[in-house]
Amino acid sequence: MPIVAPSILAADFSKLGDEIRMINASEADWIHCDVMDGQFVPNISFGFPILKAVKAIAQKPLDVHLMIENPGQYIDAFKKVGADHLTVHVEAVNHLDRTVHAIREAGIKVGVALNPATPIDSVQHVLPMLDIVLLMTVNPGFGGQSFIPYVLDKVRMMRQMIALTGSSAVIQVDGGVDQKTAPEVYHAGAESLVAGSYVFRSDNPMATIAGLKAMKSSEKMT
Ligand code: DX5
Ligand code: ZN
Repeated sequence: MPIVAPSILAADFSKLGDEIRMINASEADWIHCDVMDGQFVPNISFGFPILKAVKAIAQKPLDVHLMIENPGQYIDAFKKVGADHLTVHVEAVNHLDRTVHAIREAGIKVGVALNPATPIDSVQHVLPMLDIVLLMTVNPGFGGQSFIPYVLDKVRMMRQMIALTGSSAVIQVDGGVDQKTAPEVYHAGAESLVAGSYVFRSDNPMATIAGLKAMKSSEKMT
């Protein structure tokens, strides 16, 4: 079964508490939180006060995706507001080895994200230290964009690299995941699916989450 992580970027922030309680009651595994700084990506989302408020009612791990420059400066601050996973972008970090170790030492699960055009070799040597490797299936910064199909090849290549390096990292994909693309990426070897618009813009978000969980890698969803 895929690990399903609804992205609250697409939630209705005027009733965020209800949206989190919906995720709590659903079959979702993680709560994906997109932090954007307006520098690394051309958009600003939310930061510490919102994460703290989400953490206060969340009954599932906070899967925090940092789309910010110099994420290593803020590890303790994200731990303090309750991040359970911290994923940094390889493109935003000068000393990836140091940052990965610092997150581990803070007692947080560590993820590294790659933009669509970033080669998978950039994480090869740290792969055994990772809990999550996030392959972006859109250019980060906004919800509701179209899935980039060439990332399917990257997912397959990453599966091989994980096996070769003896890593136990989970492959996560993020961006444009819906009823058409979810079975494709799952079949290619992604284990964790982030979905924003597909979940929160649907008539029945809980049923949409259940549909993702029930997906088999070989079948198309209806
Ligand atoms: C994009 C974010 C995603 C976003 C996905 O930069 O990292 O997590 O919320 O949104 P959808 O699922 O709408 O593409
Ligand atoms: Zn994300």
